[in-house]
Amino acid sequence: MMTAKSHRIGRILRSLSVQFLLAGGVVLLVGAYAVGTWVTDRIERGVVQNSGASAALYIESLLPNQTRGAEGSASVSEDAQLVLRQAFQKGILSERVVTYTIWSETGEVLDSFRPEQRGLQYEPSEALLQAWAGDVASRFQTLQAQADHPEATVGVPLLEVYVPIRDANTGEVLAVVEFYQRAERLAEELAKARRESWTLVARIFGLSGAFLFVIVHAGSRLIERQREQLRSQLLESHELSKNNDALRKRVSQAAQRSTAQSEKIMQRIGQDLHDGVAQHLSLVSLRLEGAGLGPSKDAETIMQSLKNAMKELREISRGLSLPDLATLDLRECAAQAVTEHNKAHESNAQFVDQSVGSVHVNDATKLCVYRFLQESLSNAARHAVASSITVELNVEDDWIDVLVSDNGRGFAPDELLGVRDDGGQGLLGLSDRAATLGGAFVIASHPGNGTQARLRLPIWEDDA
Ligand SMILES: Nc1ncnc2c1ncn2[C@@H]1O[C@H](COP(=O)(O)OP(=O)(O)OP(=O)(O)O)[C@@H](O)[C@H]1O
Ligand SMILES: [Mg+2]
Repeated sequence: MMTAKSHRIGRILRSLSVQFLLAGGVVLLVGAYAVGTWVTDRIERGVVQNSGASAALYIESLLPNQTRGAEGSASVSEDAQLVLRQAFQKGILSERVVTYTIWSETGEVLDSFRPEQRGLQYEPSEALLQAWAGDVASRFQTLQAQADHPEATVGVPLLEVYVPIRDANTGEVLAVVEFYQRAERLAEELAKARRESWTLVARIFGLSGAFLFVIVHAGSRLIERQREQLRSQLLESHELSKNNDALRKRVSQAAQRSTAQSEKIMQRIGQDLHDGVAQHLSLVSLRLEGAGLGPSKDAETIMQSLKNAMKELREISRGLSLPDLATLDLRECAAQAVTEHNKAHESNAQFVDQSVGSVHVNDATKLCVYRFLQESLSNAARHAVASSITVELNVEDDWIDVLVSDNGRGFAPDELLGVRDDGGQGLLGLSDRAATLGGAFVIASHPGNGTQARLRLPIWEDDA
């Protein structure tokens, strides 16, 4: 139960869509965070900048035209300072502006919300330098409790704006007005803009993620289905090949049984010829001798024909009958086939045994080797006109290899193999026998170059 469950979980985790969901989800989240941060930052900066710019415009509109004094000393006129002081402290701006400073180019405080600051010198901040370069600089911040800011503004969101005051003729910056104005509404707007932009980014990324997931999921299911199909086809072909093997085995067994049957019949015929017809012929020969036929040409011819008939009959019966294969191992069986052949054909075929130890194989294999040697040696003796015939036996890597070679006149195997009109089909029969045992019979020959007949048979595990 547990293993089935963990197997299922494993399969789900392996599925492409889940892998996409895990990997793609992380990528999308990181992407959404990066884009969202970038977009909200841009929006915030834009909003702050815009608010600063409009506040600057308002301040500029309040001031009378400024020009640098003849001696070039005063930065902003006393008039202008007065106008600003009144606007910031008593006018409509006083409700919103919490503090202000007018800076000279050297970092000196020309005027301030707190009069004691006048004439003091400070290191110019980055925003102050930006204003001196001619741009309105604005920042959004919440002030911490500080001595120079009234308690009321602590914790309230403020917009800090630096406004350059220009020379009406030359456009040169004469002074910079810095002021903090309450920005609760701006803060609300910013929070709203932030919320909206994050919602938008989340929606866009969520939708595209969902869209991609649907595509990947469909692809993943298709692949899963095809994988299932392949798996079942593989199983099917496995079954088929098992069935094929079983069928092949049955065909081979049937062929072996039929060979065994014909071997039995051949044995019977051989035995009958030897014990029946041959015995009758020897009796006839004895009786003819005993009948006292005078020495005449006819009598001699009859006696000679009788002898020939008996010799041929013995040869035929020897060829048909087999030694008791069950008592012999493979090497003895091969050696016996060579000896029998040499006896019957008054031949001198050599047997070279290269196998090691005794080799035990089943009777069908021994019979096949025996018949192969009988047929190949008989062909060599009958057709080859050879001065040397050799039989080699080799057993290696579960294969039996038997080679019969002669140095006779050779022939063209392609033209002569097959069922022929004259009934000769010894080599064809050998091919069939070898095939039923899963082996092969090959003949190599060229006219004038001798012949090599080779039989290769597998040794099955159940042979030993
Ligand atoms: N060792 C050999 N040297 C030369 N020719 C050969 C040799 N073996 C076979 N042949 C040729 O191949 C032919 C086919 O041989 P195969 O054994 O099939 O038939 P066969 O010997 O003529 O008849 P059967 O074997 O039925 O008595 C032979 O007739 C012969 O011409
Ligand atoms: Mg033959």
